[in-house]
Amino acid sequence: MNVSGKPHLSCGSGPQLDHAVLLQVIEQNPASIILTEPDGTIVYVNQRCCAVTGYRAEELLGQNPRLLKGADGYTDYRQLWQTLQAGRQWRGEFHNRNKSGEIFWELALISPIFDEQGNLSHYLAIKEEISSRKKAEEELERTVAEATQLSASMEFKNAEIEQQRQELDQAYAELKATQSQMLQREKMASIGQLAAGVAHEINNPMGFISSNLRSLKTYLGKMVGYLQTVEKEVKTSPRWDELKAERKKLKIDFLLDDCDDLIDESLDGAERVRKIVQNLKTFSRVDQAEEQQVDLNECLESTIAIVWNEIKYKAKLEKDFAELPELHCNPQELAQVFTNLLVNAAQAIDKDGLIRLRSWHDASSIYVSIEDNGCGISEENQARIFEPFFTTKEVGKGTGLGMSISYEIVKKHGGKFELDSTVGKGSCFTVCLPLAGDCAASEDLTDNDGDE
Ligand SMILES: Nc1ncnc2c1ncn2[C@@H]1O[C@H](COP(=O)(O)OP(=O)(O)OP(=O)(O)O)[C@@H](O)[C@H]1O
Ligand SMILES: [Mg+2]
Repeated sequence: MNVSGKPHLSCGSGPQLDHAVLLQVIEQNPASIILTEPDGTIVYVNQRCCAVTGYRAEELLGQNPRLLKGADGYTDYRQLWQTLQAGRQWRGEFHNRNKSGEIFWELALISPIFDEQGNLSHYLAIKEEISSRKKAEEELERTVAEATQLSASMEFKNAEIEQQRQELDQAYAELKATQSQMLQREKMASIGQLAAGVAHEINNPMGFISSNLRSLKTYLGKMVGYLQTVEKEVKTSPRWDELKAERKKLKIDFLLDDCDDLIDESLDGAERVRKIVQNLKTFSRVDQAEEQQVDLNECLESTIAIVWNEIKYKAKLEKDFAELPELHCNPQELAQVFTNLLVNAAQAIDKDGLIRLRSWHDASSIYVSIEDNGCGISEENQARIFEPFFTTKEVGKGTGLGMSISYEIVKKHGGKFELDSTVGKGSCFTVCLPLAGDCAASEDLTDNDGDE
């Protein structure tokens, strides 16, 4: 090895060392040592430097360290030179290439060396070969990156699974709701069919009962007329007194009067039966197409007739129906909604209650409200009444389906519910049904979403 220039071979103010020893210290140093002129020309390399770079010392001397440079972009050489030219040490890493072209990494400490006059005489680079550490670091970085990616993809997978689970939950809830609605619809359909069957059976005999009663009334009138004519003739008969006494005894006058009343009453009764039959038919609507133009008041009347038995022992019914424009709707389904609301109102009342039924309209919608002075609904339960299977009624009395079905039907008609209820005072359900299009555009009714 060769040392040109004038390096100091003493250690500060310590004892002077033999030059040969100092040279051995440098030569055999486990770090690579390169000494360059201020312009970068290599003037000394130690054994370790040769071992690491694969070059012999003669091949390196006189060269510039850039001979060893690997790829661009790893070391900021501008900053390196600025630091050194400012007389400061530079510490950093080099991406290098050895004589056979293999890449290796070095951690370097480069210091400017000054002569006794304080002039820059050399640069001293002490370098440690750190390829295996770099490799381990890169490996670690790669592993960390892979782990991060893995954890990100696991998070993504987890989110996917969570979403699928939620979709499944929702599908299950929808399925359950649909099943319950189908059950309820089937129930209503069979009630409707039954009602229609009964109505049909009653209709025929009622037809001839009414017609016969009317004939009977005419016949009776004729017979009374005839009797009065005969009476006039027999007044002069010697048996008139006897006949008069007999007439009195048999209460013929009262009998004739009462016959008339009896027939009138029976005709009245027959008319009532006719109306009930008509209501049953309206309720079941088996004779009509599903969607039609309907007067909702008629629909309400027929519903009342059907549920009257549930109401009559518990509450008075007050009706306040405004004249309504016809609504294009499915009356059978809406009858189902009104049935549920009326039955709920009756069930909320213990006794001597009052149920108010109102109908009105504005330019865009028809409104029907059913108000009771029953037990009322707590705020907590108000949020749940439209959930399928939510019931506060004892087992066997409520299935908890009425309101959820009603909600679906009203929603299907583009309408919505409003509920105003106070515990202990009563509840008022208002159904808003748009005459056409969206109900939201009409009066200010807050949305009671039951399926959220
Ligand atoms: N008018 C009302 N007054 C008080 N509570 C009511 C009224 N209407 C509904 N509710 C409450 O809402 C719950 C749900 O009503 P919904 O009609 O859906 O079911 P249900 O009446 O219990 O059973 P069903 O399926 O037989 O109708 C009722 O159990 C009751 O607690
Ligand atoms: Mg109910």
